[in-house]
Amino acid sequence: MNLRSMRPGEEGDIAALIHRSTNAWYREKLGHEIFAGTPEDCRIFPETYEELDPGCCLVAEIEGRIAGSCFYHPRDTHVGLGIMNAAPEFAGRGVAKALLTEILERAGELPVRLVSSAMNLDSYSLYTRAGFCPVAVYQDMVLPADRPLAPPPMIPGKVRKADAADLFAMVDLESEVAGIRRAKDLSHFLRSPGGHWTTFVHRDLAGKIDGWLASIDHPGCRMIGPGVMREDGVALALIHAQLAHRRGTSPVFLVPTHEAALVAELYGWGCRNVELHFAQVHGASAPPQGVVMPSFLPESG
Ligand SMILES: CC(C)(COP(=O)(O)OP(=O)(O)OC[C@H]1O[C@@H](n2cnc3c(N)ncnc32)[C@H](O)[C@@H]1OP(=O)(O)O)[C@@H](O)C(=O)NCCC(=O)NCCS
Repeated sequence: MNLRSMRPGEEGDIAALIHRSTNAWYREKLGHEIFAGTPEDCRIFPETYEELDPGCCLVAEIEGRIAGSCFYHPRDTHVGLGIMNAAPEFAGRGVAKALLTEILERAGELPVRLVSSAMNLDSYSLYTRAGFCPVAVYQDMVLPADRPLAPPPMIPGKVRKADAADLFAMVDLESEVAGIRRAKDLSHFLRSPGGHWTTFVHRDLAGKIDGWLASIDHPGCRMIGPGVMREDGVALALIHAQLAHRRGTSPVFLVPTHEAALVAELYGWGCRNVELHFAQVHGASAPPQGVVMPSFLPESG
């Protein structure tokens, strides 16, 4: 097996691998597919990641064929690990393990963070065998398209669209709440290349940002997140703003299972669970100081 970076012009091949491998696994094991659209839709993964971190898409090659791929995102505090895929015809032959081992080596002393499905024992086992530890559980929720949106929660403060001037306050808040710093990713959401991302901030009565929440609307990834909030009322206000903004598209969003009041309120709005995920960390991590909502693009863990 040969490990190398994705080459210029290979984005379509990697997108096709992500689409084929993920859909094949979920179809066989769980009876449904993840990507409803075309393989081309999955270009959003290699294109976004290559823009953010050129050369950090690792490809596994066996006898000249692409057998697997994985993305990693080096940041100040950690390394994020993006979507991992092995081609179905190479499944169970150590492709994912080889990619993971290489990325752990490149990460050196930095913690490596990811989000992995709790319904996928293959990926759960891959990561925990390599020394990752689940540190949080999330329920993936959607508001069905035919449910009217509940009235916005009445909490002090105000939600508004984020702008470039909010970047450093957002970075600092994520550092305080989630213990990670990644200005590069947050700046990407605010610049919103292609117009796919929308970010809202919540300001408390003193005008300080006490929560922010991004979302992406693209055929390859429709989700609300990532975001961090000092408390669950702020999380509700931001989720409400994103659901209103994305009305008609039923984006998925990941809510910490231990935030019982937040989860209860979302059930009251008619939200349904569609999957469960673990945040997994290889190395040190601190407990969150607020509400953390992770995302799959870029993976935040
Ligand atoms: C998950 C996925 C990447 C695994 O790829 P793979 O190349 O088949 O995995 P590997 O062959 O490297 O095996 C991974 C390890 O998990 C172990 N493993 C798998 N299932 C296990 C189980 N139920 N219990 C314990 N260990 C298990 C294997 O034994 C192996 O460890 P070992 O080599 O130390 O024995 C692949 O199934 C895939 O692409 N799935 C679809 C996309 C997806 O779900 N990606 C994950 C998103 S986070």
